[in-house]
Amino acid sequence: MAHKTKEFKWEKKHLLGLRELSPDEISYILDTAAGFEQISARAVKKTPPLRGKLVVNLFFEDSTRTRNSFALAASRLSADVVEFTKNDSSVSKGETLLDTARNLEAMGIDIVVIRHGAGGAPKLLSKYINACVVNAGDGYCEHPTQGLLDVYTIRKLRGSLKGLKIAIVGDITHSRVARSDMWAMTKLGAKVTFVGPPTLLPPNVEQLPVKVSYSLDDVIEKVDVINMLRIQFERIGGNPFPSVREYSHYFGLTGERMKKAKPDILVMHPGPINRGLEIESEVADGRNSVILQQVSNGIAVRMAVLFLVNQAAAQQVKQIKET
Ligand code: CP
Repeated sequence: MAHKTKEFKWEKKHLLGLRELSPDEISYILDTAAGFEQISARAVKKTPPLRGKLVVNLFFEDSTRTRNSFALAASRLSADVVEFTKNDSSVSKGETLLDTARNLEAMGIDIVVIRHGAGGAPKLLSKYINACVVNAGDGYCEHPTQGLLDVYTIRKLRGSLKGLKIAIVGDITHSRVARSDMWAMTKLGAKVTFVGPPTLLPPNVEQLPVKVSYSLDDVIEKVDVINMLRIQFERIGGNPFPSVREYSHYFGLTGERMKKAKPDILVMHPGPINRGLEIESEVADGRNSVILQQVSNGIAVRMAVLFLVNQAAAQQVKQIKET
């Protein structure tokens, strides 16, 4: 469903996070994505707005969904795409992030899509290069296009997020998805509850615009949407729970637990899934699951983001020339 944002002008040449966006800005990206969605259904999946532009996928951490989705989105907008990963570049020889980006910029790039383990890396980059910067995930901070595709998916299926009750469950502390989801969902009017063991909830959680619950069983029957997060073993130091089996018992989305949920609950997961840990396969692949729809919708959302930041950059160049 398209929700045309009236008389709105997009002015940001970077997308660094959703915390800094207004509800209108978020809605405008979703509306733009809705316009791009039909391009992916065509026989020829191309449209020309980024013809002649160069997009660099600068990924310092692994990715399946985000990197390929940005590559497809750029390609569908007719941009050229360069893929860059930590392991097949001079970063492995000690080259810094800024030197890497400046060298890429010297080759004439227009948009950098960056994923980095350090929170704030995209913002830092945006201060030192002229190209547009799009955050594809930074540390524990934000994963804005995941947040956007999540709210896009909910809005498409439910019409609006206003008043919806949403649980985000699991490893909140280490999740940039939880933070971007929280900003996007609450700005669009949803009521969000973080659910997990105290060891996986961030220390400042009471300052965030969410409720907190330590019991999935208390929450499951009340929510319209449930987003199950991956346990990020690669970021966790120490033992946040006694055993995987115990975590799964209390916080896993099992077929048995789903019997308590609303019949039309939307089950989400950003991927990659630890099957049998945070979610059982019968639920991940079950009738309430929208996990693969999230992935499909990601392409249109990322097309919208690339299109809008490029448009804002062009507008800024025009204004400079006119003054
Ligand atoms: N959701 C997500 O960010 O997945 P990838 O790590 O595969 O990009």
